[in-house]
Amino acid sequence: MLQALDYARRHQDRFLEELVALLGIPSVSTDSAYAEEVARAAAWLVDHLRGLGATGAHAAPTGGHPIVVAAHQAAPARPTILVYGHYDVQPADPLELWISPPFKPVIRDGAIYARGACDDKGQLFMWVKALEAYVKTGGLPPVNMKFIFEGEEECGSTHLPPYIQAHTDALAADVVCISDTALFAPGVPSITCGLRGMSYVEVTLTGPNRDLHSGVYGGAIENPINVLGQLIGGLHDADHRITIPGFYDDVRPLTAAERAEFAALPFDAAAWAAEVGVGHTRTEAGFTPLEGATARPTLDCNGIWGGYMGEGAKTVLPSTASAKISMRLVPDQDPQDIAQKTRAYFEAHAPPTMHVRLEEIHGAVPVLVSTESPAMAAAAHALEDVYGQRPFFTRIGGSIPVVADFKRLMGLDSVLMGFGLDTDAIHSPNEHFGIDRFRQGVESIIRFLAAYGSSS
Ligand code: BES
Ligand code: MN
Ligand code: MN
Repeated sequence: MLQALDYARRHQDRFLEELVALLGIPSVSTDSAYAEEVARAAAWLVDHLRGLGATGAHAAPTGGHPIVVAAHQAAPARPTILVYGHYDVQPADPLELWISPPFKPVIRDGAIYARGACDDKGQLFMWVKALEAYVKTGGLPPVNMKFIFEGEEECGSTHLPPYIQAHTDALAADVVCISDTALFAPGVPSITCGLRGMSYVEVTLTGPNRDLHSGVYGGAIENPINVLGQLIGGLHDADHRITIPGFYDDVRPLTAAERAEFAALPFDAAAWAAEVGVGHTRTEAGFTPLEGATARPTLDCNGIWGGYMGEGAKTVLPSTASAKISMRLVPDQDPQDIAQKTRAYFEAHAPPTMHVRLEEIHGAVPVLVSTESPAMAAAAHALEDVYGQRPFFTRIGGSIPVVADFKRLMGLDSVLMGFGLDTDAIHSPNEHFGIDRFRQGVESIIRFLAAYGSSS
């Protein structure tokens, strides 16, 4: 292991150059205009894994973007890990807010700036480089490694569950390892043991059969944008609780012990809110901001449109108004059930002048993973060695849909060891990843592989 660590330190600059090449490929999964680029990123990873002696490396075609799979056998008696990551990225817009172009990666102020630098190309690449460090210094990593890199995580993971289901033998492992989350704070390691789920819907209200002159019809024909605004406004009450009937029915209450653990975490809500330019947090009554952001369900309108949005003014009473709404779910809420309840809310509250259409875009099941396992112990050990303190077990507010799928389809738990920071601007302009954290990540993974390899 010491040789592998030394190798990784000596080759860090080249690792980063390679990462620059991967980040230069605009693998935006949600926009079909980028489909060839997504395929190019998959091919790049396949070539790279092959170059490290991985067997069976290929980009498996799906009805959408390809899934990159590969394996590196150590010894049959050793445990096997399945490394999951995603090589697709979010759209880069608004482009004008980027200081340097999103797909022309640059290193400045100790961080690499590009779309995907942290989420998730930079983080999945740490696992590949940890493999390299072992392969190039002695031959074999301490565990058998399999890789599955998805190209559709940012757009709903449509084709991944069927792929997993059809390939459970080839993917068989003892545990799934994922770096696609964040440290608790700079220098403060954490292992993520909870992820929120998701129910994502798009709702469209249709009123008049065409756009109307707001002077001719306004005041007598109801306006879908006005109505949609009221309905969305009504989704939260004064306590900032969600008003959809039955929304909280399946929410597992936080235990006193869990709440004590949250309270003990070093979280400065005021500073956290100030960093995004807002003076105060706003949380459901009776819960702390940290609980609100990680362990309670939410509802956010992600986009809203209708009518005239060009320059200047147009006096129009529009025919339709639409909104995209995401709800973050916690155990034991069910994405489809929540989508149905949301549909019922809009249908019950829309006036008879409006036709409601609600489309379910995607869903993800919320998860809590056990913190008691040899792999968790190995991860905690590795992070303690690198950061000089025991990691916290934390929940994050985001979602990684495949974690629940691995559990449901293969019975596998995941170890979520992430090295991002909330300030890395994932999904935002100027996404970046500190090169110190890239190095710490590679080192933590090298140590994790050694600790897990000798644990069973
Ligand atoms: N890596 C993120 C998940 C994440 C979010 C980790 C915040 C740490 C902090 C992942 O790529 C992501 O963006 N997931 C989506 C999933 C959704 C499309 C189902 C999310 O959380 O919005
Ligand atoms: Mn991610
Ligand atoms: Mn993401």
